[in-house]
Amino acid sequence: MTAVAALCRGFLLGLSTTEFTGLDGFLEVLDKREDPATRERGLLTVSNHVCVLDDPLIWGALPLRYALNPENHRWGLGSYDLCFTNKPLSMFFSLGQVLPTHRSAYSQHGGLFQPTITQAIRLLSRGPFLPPNNAPQPPRLPVRSPDLADPFTNGHLTFSTNGTDSFPAPSAYLNRRHSWVHIFPEGMIHQKEDRTMRYFKWGVSRLILESEPCPDIVPVWVEGPDQVMHETREFPRFLPRPGKNVSITFGNVLDGEKAFGDLRRRWQQMRAIEEGKSGPMEVGVLNDVLKYSDEAVRLREECTLRVRAAVLDVRRTRGHPDEDPKGGLAATYAIEGGKGEGRKADGSITREA
Ligand SMILES: *[C@@H]1O[C@H](CO)[C@@H](O)[C@H](O)[C@H]1NC(C)=O
Ligand SMILES: *[C@@H]1O[C@H](CO)[C@@H](O)[C@H](O)[C@H]1NC(C)=O
Repeated sequence: MTAVAALCRGFLLGLSTTEFTGLDGFLEVLDKREDPATRERGLLTVSNHVCVLDDPLIWGALPLRYALNPENHRWGLGSYDLCFTNKPLSMFFSLGQVLPTHRSAYSQHGGLFQPTITQAIRLLSRGPFLPPNNAPQPPRLPVRSPDLADPFTNGHLTFSTNGTDSFPAPSAYLNRRHSWVHIFPEGMIHQKEDRTMRYFKWGVSRLILESEPCPDIVPVWVEGPDQVMHETREFPRFLPRPGKNVSITFGNVLDGEKAFGDLRRRWQQMRAIEEGKSGPMEVGVLNDVLKYSDEAVRLREECTLRVRAAVLDVRRTRGHPDEDPKGGLAATYAIEGGKGEGRKADGSITREA
C-alpha cells in the first residue's frame, strides 16, 4: 500500500495539477483514529466514480506517512472478476485492503447480501468477529485459483464469497475494529460532461444501517481522474495521462446520528422484532424479512438517497448546477440507452469497473 500510495502521490503532485479541498479536516479525522484501541466508531467515505484508477489515485491526496499505517487506511470493494481471478492478483489486492466483491452482471453470487458486504459492515463495527468454529474448511484448490489462506493461524480466520473459495476475514482481527471503508456506490465508472452521477446502489445503506455504532461518514467529490484515464483514450490505454487537472474535495464529517438516526432506529426496531421471533442474529447477517420486506427496502432506499444527497452537497461546492431531480433514481438510467459498457444515448460513458 505504501508503494502504490507513493506512486499515486508522485503522479498527482509531480505530473498533474492538483487541488485538494477540505483535506486538513479529513486528515484531522484520520489523526484522531490513529490508534484502533481508542476509536469509537468506523469511518465510511463515499464518492463518485469517474475512472478505473480513482482508487488508489485519490488517496495520493494523503501525505505519505498515512500510507505507512495500513491500519488507518481505507478498505475498498474490488470486482471479483477483475481483481481476484488468480492467486497473484488476489494477493496483491488483499494486501491492498480490497475485498472481493461479486457483481450481479457477472456472477450469481453478487448483490446486496453477499458475504463481502457482511465483512464491510463488521469492519466498520466494534469487532473482532470470529468465524464460527465449525466453518467448513475450503477444499484444496489449484494454484491458479484465487483462494488465499489466513496467514496467521491454521486457516480458520477466513470467509468465503461463494461457498467454496476462501479469503482472509479482516473483521476477525482486533486491530481492524472500527475500520475505514471507502465505497463508490454508483457501482461502475460514470463519465459525463455535466459531471452528474448515476443512482446509488443500496449496498451503502447496509453499511450505514447495520454497522454498530453508526460510522462517521465523509462524502468526497472527485474530478479529473476521468481525464487521466478517459474512456475514449487510445493506445497506450493502460497508461495514465499526465498534465491533467485533478481536484478532490472532502466534505465535512456527517453527524451519523443526526443524518441517519431516525432510519437506524426504525431498522433496529425491525431487527428486534425479528430477533424476538427467531433468536439473535449476527452483525451483518439478515433473515428474509430484513432482506426483502417492503419496510426494509424503503429504509434502504431512503438511506441511499440521503447519502447521495450528501455527495451532491460536496459537488455543489465545486460550482456545478444542481442535477435533474430524477438523477438519483434507478429508472432514469433506462434512458442511458443500450446495455453494457461504452458511450450511451444520453452522452455518458460507463464502464463496469
Ligand atoms: C467459487 O470460486 C472459485 C474460485 O473462483 C471457483 O473455483 C468455484 O467453482 C466457485 N464456487 C461456486 C459454487 O461458484
Ligand atoms: C487546467 O485548468 C486551468 C485553469 O482552469 C486551465 O487553464 C487548463 O487548460 C486546464 N488544463 C487541462 C489539461 O484541462
